[in-house]
Amino acid sequence: MGTESAGANGEAAKGNDPSTDDPLLAWRGRFPILGTSNYMISNSLGAVPAAAGDALGAYYALWATRGVQSWQDAWWTLSADLGNVVAPLIGAAPGDVVFQPCVTLAHAIVLSALDLRRRPRIVTDAMHFPSILYLLDGLQADGVEIVRVDSDDGVSVDAERIAAAMDDRTAAVCLSHVLFRSAYIHDLTPVTTAARACGALTIIDGYQAVGVIPVDVGPLDVDVYIGGVLKWLCGGPGGAFLWVRPELQSELRPRITGWMAHRQPFDFAPTLDRRDDIWRFLTGTPNISALYAARPGLEIIGAIGSGPIRAKSMRQTARLLDLADAAGLRCTTPRDPARRGGTVAFDVPNGYAVSQALKARGILCDFRPQAGIRLSPHFYTRDDELDAAVQAIVDIQATAEWRPFARSRDTVT
Ligand SMILES: Cc1ncc(COP(=O)(O)O)c(C=O)c1O
Repeated sequence: MGTESAGANGEAAKGNDPSTDDPLLAWRGRFPILGTSNYMISNSLGAVPAAAGDALGAYYALWATRGVQSWQDAWWTLSADLGNVVAPLIGAAPGDVVFQPCVTLAHAIVLSALDLRRRPRIVTDAMHFPSILYLLDGLQADGVEIVRVDSDDGVSVDAERIAAAMDDRTAAVCLSHVLFRSAYIHDLTPVTTAARACGALTIIDGYQAVGVIPVDVGPLDVDVYIGGVLKWLCGGPGGAFLWVRPELQSELRPRITGWMAHRQPFDFAPTLDRRDDIWRFLTGTPNISALYAARPGLEIIGAIGSGPIRAKSMRQTARLLDLADAAGLRCTTPRDPARRGGTVAFDVPNGYAVSQALKARGILCDFRPQAGIRLSPHFYTRDDELDAAVQAIVDIQATAEWRPFARSRDTVT
């Protein structure tokens, strides 16, 4: 549908199908679920590569044959070893990234290192992921002022306003690199410039960025970059990662800590002799099985490279917007490709119920209030799957196929 007409957003207007000679489709066979569903939900849970099953088998085999010796064989250093697999994906040097159980806890660890008595102010925005907002709100009990800069349009947040909210009492600014609701890519430059000028730390959540847009912590000039493998990195739950600017690592003293941060953990000393490197941000026993499961996805994304993934993502999100325009569906996603991440959100009536009806048809997607139905193609997505998903939204609305899925708390429109 809509592929012959001149679309405002680009590729769908061409009339030829670029996906027929799309080399990235060669990776499809490695992802079993792509054979049984239209997988439009890589912003939430990336498709699992079959190799993750082999990796989990290897985890079990080591455990079964080597028992406790698995720690010295592979497990004790795995948080940092896998960090070295993530490092090139974010422009970091080896040795500067460690794994954490989740993005929220990684934030909590970094926040616990701030001197909030001397600088009792943290700046964020209202579009940040709620889990981080909850964490920040918890600091108010200690007298910390949390400044939440609002969005004017529910899609973006003005970076200049965020920059203007910082002063010399500000300990940190916490932002999502790509906003989860709208896929808006933050303009971090005014924020990092203001943060440098006033001595505040920039703590950036790249969960919706790494794996779908190129990320390079060097030119971004941020202090802390956090992400996770669950979504665009196809690595499954339980794996998040933390990069801290190398010069800053030894300056920060997280109060949320543990024995993995100790220089000699197996001395079991009663007081912490903190390491100077990225290991000082570790706490206790890592989630080893999750780290095994995460590696194949990371390696595939690393082998493809962020350039081809981004080029395809921009083309396919443009196609989705063109299809939406042709069908008269409203999208809450930036039109400017430079500011648009990997997701297109369709803000249609009865969105939750429509998303459930899509799932019932095998089109996997999600729904977020104030955003809509989120469709997130990835490097493995075919163009005809985009066309089918949008056509299904149109059909489900036309036939009221969504009705059985409506929740009592939703306003039916
Ligand atoms: C931008 C962003 N940050 C954080 C999270 C949650 O991270 P975690 O569950 O690892 O704490 C999400 C999850 O959807 C997210 O999209």
